Order: sequence, then C-alpha cells, then structure tokens
Amino acid sequence: MNTLTQVPFLDLRAHHEPLMAEFTAAFRQVVERSAFAGGPFVAKFEEEFAAFCGTASAIGVGNGTDALWLSLLALGVGPGHEVITIPNSFMATAEAISYCGAKPVFVDIDESTYLMDPSKLAAAVTPNTRAIIPVQLFGQCADMDPILEIARRHDLPVVEDACQAHGAEYQGRKAGSLGVTGCFSFYPGKNLGAFGEAGAIVTSDPALRATMQVLRDHGQSKKYCHSLIGWNARMDGLQGAILSIKLKHLNAANAARRAHAHLYHELLAEVPEVVRPTEAPGNLHVYHIYALRVKNRDRLLPQLAERGVSCAIHYPVPIHLQEAYRGLGLGRGSFPVAERCADEFLSLPMFPELKPEQIQRVVTELKACLIANR
Ligand SMILES: Cc1ncc(COP(=O)(O)O)c(C=O)c1O
Repeated sequence: MNTLTQVPFLDLRAHHEPLMAEFTAAFRQVVERSAFAGGPFVAKFEEEFAAFCGTASAIGVGNGTDALWLSLLALGVGPGHEVITIPNSFMATAEAISYCGAKPVFVDIDESTYLMDPSKLAAAVTPNTRAIIPVQLFGQCADMDPILEIARRHDLPVVEDACQAHGAEYQGRKAGSLGVTGCFSFYPGKNLGAFGEAGAIVTSDPALRATMQVLRDHGQSKKYCHSLIGWNARMDGLQGAILSIKLKHLNAANAARRAHAHLYHELLAEVPEVVRPTEAPGNLHVYHIYALRVKNRDRLLPQLAERGVSCAIHYPVPIHLQEAYRGLGLGRGSFPVAERCADEFLSLPMFPELKPEQIQRVVTELKACLIANR
C-alpha cells in the first residue's frame, strides 16, 4: 500500500491551512479583549449566522446537544411528554429529549432520502406529544411541508435538528429556518466547524429567543438575577471569532462538497451493488456525509482501509436498539427501514478539499473490493 495515495475520510488541516493568518489575528483579538465566555465575538457571529439562515436571531451555545435541549426546555417539554424524532440520528437528538424528562418516540425514515417519513408521522402523535424533531441528516432537509402541516394540525412545534445541514435548503428556504427553532452543531468536522465544541439555535420567535438566552446563562436575566433554573450552555468567545471567519467560506465549501457528490454519483452509476444517495426535488443537499448503501458493508470497510481509503458509518446502531434505550422496549423490526439502512450505510471520504483524483481512487478501490467479494 502506498501511503502517499491514502485518502482520508476528512482533512480539517487542508481546510484550515489557508486561513491560518486570519485565525491567528482573531485569536489575538479575543485574548486582547479577554472576551472568552460569550461576549462581542459571539454576538457578532450570532448576527452573521442568523442572517445566513434567514432568521431573526441566533443564540450561540456550547454545542448542538445544548441547542436541542434548550429548545425543548424553552418549549416547556418535560416529564410525561413525548417528542417525535427518527431512530437513525446521532444519539444526541434522543438524549436532548430524555434530558428534559420526556420520552423519545420514533418514526421510520423514507427509504430514498433516509429522513423522517411524513406518511408515518401522524400515527405517532398522541395526547402526550409536545414537539417534533425532524433531523436534516447527512446535509439534506426532510420533506418539511407535510411535516409542518401535520404539526400545524396538532398544534405542535417543530424543532429542526440541523446539526448536519449548515446551508442546506428546502424549497429555497434554509435549514434551521423552517421550524420554530433550528439547532446547529459546530463540532469541528461539521460543514461549519469550530475549534472545539460549539453550537447555535436560530429562531424568529422573540419569546423563545428570550427564554433560551436566559436558559443558556444559568437562568440569568440580569447578572446574579436568576429568573429560571438554567444551565451553563454559553459559547466561547474564541469559537465565535473562528466561526465568523469560517462562515465566510461556507457557501464555497458546500459548493465543493456538492461537486464531489456529483462526481461520486457519476462514477458509481454503473456499480450494481451500490445504492447512491439522492437529492430530493426542491432540496439543496450540502453533503455533510456522502453515504452509500451496500450489502456486506462490515466486510467492505476494513478492505477499503487496507487499500488506503478511510470510510465511516453513520450510524451503525439505530437509537432504539442502543443499550441506553433498552427501557423503551423497542426491538429489532420496530423500524425496518432505519434498521436496514443502518446495516448498509457506508460513508465515503467527503470534505471540500477532496481532489477529483482522490474521488476516482476511492471509486476504483471500492469497485475492486466489490468485484473481489462477488
Ligand atoms: C444529527 C446531530 N444531532 C445532534 C448533534 C449534537 O451536536 P454536538 O456534538 O455539537 O453536541 C450532532 C453532532 O454530531 C448531530 O450530528
């Protein structure tokens, strides 16, 4: 194996290197102003990110899990309540529900988009339902119009888990702006990633905004005046400064991801073993993850690694089958589409600086493995 031709799953260094001088200057400014927790750099980023998402405001928080949790708390979700989401998200979506004392209720996904299946949503609503969380997984929005319509009919708020969908669009509207709140993670590997943990909630609802701003800062409406029992969920000043720089490059980075996805799509067209991801009509997919479906995925993953191609799985075990949620009593067969997809998902290398030759190489190695396994 020639290490020079290894293809990494993600290369953050390649993304950051050209911006190093700007990062260094931003670091100096934050240190000079000692603006470490919240403060002017977070406020500036909040304004820029709200404008990017097309919402009235953004609230910087500690991470995407905080964003989901504070959204639900501000909506009054608590013990005895249910919140509907999908089983093939990252664990944090369900954790945020559980940490309000509520119960996650899952609906299966659409087989072509891997997102919440609106046709299965209404049946999951009960008198205890208090919110719906569609997850804009892999960088694409769920079919939001029917989801919002069902929510409207039942008078339920929709909280978007847009943690993987910075800049994605649905019918021309940005991910995060479609629900009452939109929750983002800026974990370093995301399409918009910080230099550590960070997240944001976007909203155009002034009352929710005010509550979430208080909740993220120990429930303080004024210094040492605690109107609510909150938490420390503030964003670091340094993360705000870094994110302002990186936000300027997000559209270009997303366009590069889309170009890479199109090349993968073309090169994989004639490979019968592979189901390629699709972009639903009216959607702009930003390919946080380029996930194929393929049988014998678990055999393929180490074979590709052996040939110098790093892949990943998002996610191998759906949430309802995780040990932590055994108490829900949902066994295999509860959500057949999500379970089948979890067995077959294989995420190929995807980052803006990926080169066409690297994509070609990934496909060549993948084809070689598939032929060898026939
Ligand atoms: C779909 C989804 N929801 C929630 C989260 C939680 O975000 P964070 O890791 O910033 O808490 C993530 C992050 O990986 C995610 O991908």
